Amino acid sequence: IETVTTTVLGRKFAVDSVTNTSESVLRLSERGLHRQQDHPLNIVKQRIQEYFARLNTTHVYTSHDALHPAVTPADNFDSLLIPKRHPSRAKTDTYYLNSEYVLRTHSSAHQAQLLREHSTTKLLKSSVANNVAKTHKDSFGFLVTADVYRRDEVDVSHYPVFHQMEGVRLFYRKNLLSQINMDAFPPIPKSAKVTDLPSLTNAKSNPIQDAHSAADSELVALHLKRSLEGLVWHLFGTSDKNLQMRWIEGSFPFTSPSYELEVMYNGKWLELLGSGVMQQQILTDNGCSDYIGWAFGLGLERIAMVLFDIPDIRLFWSTDPRFLNQFSSSSDLAKNFKFQPYSKYPACYKDVSFWIPQEAQWHDNDFFQLVRDVAGDLAEDVALIDTFKHPKTGLTSKCFRINYRSMDKNLVNEEVDLIQDNVRKELAHRFKVELRG
Ligand code: PHE
Repeated sequence: IETVTTTVLGRKFAVDSVTNTSESVLRLSERGLHRQQDHPLNIVKQRIQEYFARLNTTHVYTSHDALHPAVTPADNFDSLLIPKRHPSRAKTDTYYLNSEYVLRTHSSAHQAQLLREHSTTKLLKSSVANNVAKTHKDSFGFLVTADVYRRDEVDVSHYPVFHQMEGVRLFYRKNLLSQINMDAFPPIPKSAKVTDLPSLTNAKSNPIQDAHSAADSELVALHLKRSLEGLVWHLFGTSDKNLQMRWIEGSFPFTSPSYELEVMYNGKWLELLGSGVMQQQILTDNGCSDYIGWAFGLGLERIAMVLFDIPDIRLFWSTDPRFLNQFSSSSDLAKNFKFQPYSKYPACYKDVSFWIPQEAQWHDNDFFQLVRDVAGDLAEDVALIDTFKHPKTGLTSKCFRINYRSMDKNLVNEEVDLIQDNVRKELAHRFKVELRG
């Protein structure tokens, strides 16, 4: 029998009963926006790499930005201690290439692999170098920039592919204090306001791990916080002298305690990143039991949208020179550069309602992906506007409103009608729904 395969960046994957990727999403994996010169995501990535390079005179952070997006569920979930029944593993939320591979849902998918690589190269170095002890005991870290994939809603801030940057920093446990003092954090001016959390030493909801002393855990958390506060100031400080940030409690299976960092943006707190003290078991599982460390993960689109005033996440994928030509990595951060929207073409919405068959395992994300497949980037926003359960038949009917708008041209009504018609046809075909009206 001939097996059907899909190809992702030169690697082939056999299609099976679990496969839920679509051509439209696989095509995006080839773009590599964060490696494209002068792309805003590349500019933000570079500014972050530059910050971490400046923090350390010893170059402890190595950067990776071309790791393959296909990873195993073991990499993406198990190695990070994500429970077997965690909702993020569901086919409604994650793109499965097949039963053995997923498209990574976060840059954390590479933590375990990179820890193993670092631990083996460190050991290798220490056995050949003269200064055995020093090399082995050095602290080390890495930055990973990655396109990540999630089945999600359709609106101006969600897209099935986005970009994350992961940072990991490890310290040799035995001389923790001396290593932490090595870093000189750049001062944040008084005009900016940073609100920290109260000490979490006794917090049940966000505990210090049994494997750590309170003193060590707090020292590592302090280093994490000072590193990231400095980063946020480095990124936003020149455009907002009165920048406000605050730490709140987070919750991730792979860190404890966990923290999120928020900034004040247009009068609201906006989450920038998740972080925390790495679960010691992850270090032990991957050859780094002599170390203690922190990790963070941040979304590059979110930062670029705030930094440059980019109003719609679809713009990052635009090949329109009116978008791309505005960005240049040589443009000085101090110039407080903002994106100038070149047009806002009129939007036009269409509703579709249908009965879901009794036996169907319906999930709204299936509908969102269908709209992406059929309408591509012309769909700006999809909203569920009505759900109705028939008192007699027990069947459920849903009504979705699709808002159509092109980023670079005027859409004529006939064009939108045609797309809407295809959405309806595909809906009936794929999910056997009964269309209404
Ligand atoms: N992977 C997490 C996310 O995608 C972010 C994170 C990374 C949190 C590392 C803690 C440590 O939301």
